[in-house]
Amino acid sequence: MTTTRRTMIAGNWKMNGLKSDGKKLASALARRMKKLKKPNFEMVICPPYPLLGLASEAIKASGVKLGAQDCHSATSGAHTGDVSAELLKNIGCKTAIVGHSERRTDHGESDALVKAKAEAAIGAGMSVIVCIGETLRQRESGRAMSVNRKQLQGSLPDSATARNTVIAYEPVWAIGTGKVATPEQAQEVHAVIRRELAKMIGEKEADKVRILYGGSMKPGNAKELLSLPDVDGGLIGGAALNADDFWAIAASVD
Ligand code: PGA
Repeated sequence: MTTTRRTMIAGNWKMNGLKSDGKKLASALARRMKKLKKPNFEMVICPPYPLLGLASEAIKASGVKLGAQDCHSATSGAHTGDVSAELLKNIGCKTAIVGHSERRTDHGESDALVKAKAEAAIGAGMSVIVCIGETLRQRESGRAMSVNRKQLQGSLPDSATARNTVIAYEPVWAIGTGKVATPEQAQEVHAVIRRELAKMIGEKEADKVRILYGGSMKPGNAKELLSLPDVDGGLIGGAALNADDFWAIAASVD
């Protein structure tokens, strides 16, 4: 983290929670956020689609921002079960996660599709959190860096700037497993991502892009990870479902 890049603490609720849980969680975070005069982090929550409306109400005027977990690449049309970036923006989303490894696996999303989704979100006036990350097999065969470089090259929207794009490095083997990347492993990949970004959008812009770490981030390991030079925040799953844990992660930002 550097002072020029504002730390982002983003909660990915995934397919969890019912109406009452969502409302309680969003309200608890909003209440705490409102008490801070000048938070030194940006907080985003990404609930499941049907909870976006009530979460939006619960965080109103609190400074907590709303994000979606995905969007479609088309602006509208015959896409049953999908949601457009335009509608997400319309109901209050400021950002959308695209390319999460669970979507890449569960729905066979390719880099090209992730890139198209990112373009759609930016086109609708939102920012994007573009996720990349290697599997355990890829890491063990020494391909972690090349896999992340390739995913970034394929998934980064052409219109990417530091304002509209955040990258999340999420090693697949660390997601929901309790296994967290060591600070050395995280910093190494984050630095590689920033160098690759510099080639793609120029060094000056790349220097301003926030790169989040995701994968079993918890109150107990957040401080160390968030203090690494190229780690500019966290994309948090499990620990984002508990207001105390999620807040403790945010509170560990220096
Ligand atoms: P986790 O999930 O914090 O539960 O590992 C992170 C993510 O998938 O975004």
